[in-house]
Amino acid sequence: MANPPNYPSKVFLNGEILNVADAKISVFDRGFIFGDGIYEVMARIGGRFFYREAHLNRLRTCLEKIDISFNVDTLEPEIPKLLELSGLETADCLLYIQVTRGVAPRQHSYPEGIQPTVMMYAWAKTLPDINQIPASVVLQKDFRWSRCDIKMTSLLGNVMANEFAVAHDCYETVFEREGILTEASHSNVFFVKNEVVYTHPADCFILDGITRQVVLELCEKLGIAVRLEGLPVQEIPNLDEAFLTGTSTQILAIANIDDFVLSGGHAGPITRKLQQAFLDLKKSRP
Ligand code: PDD
Repeated sequence: MANPPNYPSKVFLNGEILNVADAKISVFDRGFIFGDGIYEVMARIGGRFFYREAHLNRLRTCLEKIDISFNVDTLEPEIPKLLELSGLETADCLLYIQVTRGVAPRQHSYPEGIQPTVMMYAWAKTLPDINQIPASVVLQKDFRWSRCDIKMTSLLGNVMANEFAVAHDCYETVFEREGILTEASHSNVFFVKNEVVYTHPADCFILDGITRQVVLELCEKLGIAVRLEGLPVQEIPNLDEAFLTGTSTQILAIANIDDFVLSGGHAGPITRKLQQAFLDLKKSRP
């Protein structure tokens, strides 16, 4: 059967690179039953994966956090093979990696002695130099669990929150937990007030985004003051700028949070400075 449009043609599954139609997993896979797995997404820009080691390290750390034993190093030689067979050897693309606990009769506790199910695929994606169109975002209570530091495949809370954004013609939902702004449904969030950049500390209420880490490094390099603090919702009217960060979002200015318009609906000066520094970094391909 021909692949439906927009599907990648090849998938790496448990050591083999297969046509998508031939890639099968058990209905008893714990990824399917419980969302019991970890994933990672990284971007290949100009022939190299951007902050590849940081992404692979986060995959290792998250697997350790949920006691899935899998040697991430074994993926390294498979990635170029997958890209080649997917016709992406020279293309800019995104790579998705997922490791679930594996297949076992349904029980909540971790079964002993099962093999993880490992899946990867890539698809062509050229990210803009700078993401130019500022985003509208909506606020919502963070109804997710309190281990948002784990990049797990059970993303229902994030999916529901992103759907809420789409239903409001917005790009993102920014979460608030007990009155404190945390992160967004698929990106991190930064705020600028009186030339100080604020973002939530990397604790269990946010995913510590790789782009977030890069932006923090850029702030240091550019001499921009940073406070790793969760900002109270009441501070929104006092903000000068705000922006989102993420692997495909890159650095995206926020035009408005609910009805509050920031920086006249445009990227403010600190956001633009960081966007330019991020572009320079991509061009120097770390
Ligand atoms: N999303 N916070 C959440 C909840 C995320 O899902 C993501 C990434 C981020 C940003 O992380 P990074 O800078 O490492 O991409 C923050 C990915 C890309 C996704 O689910 O597709």
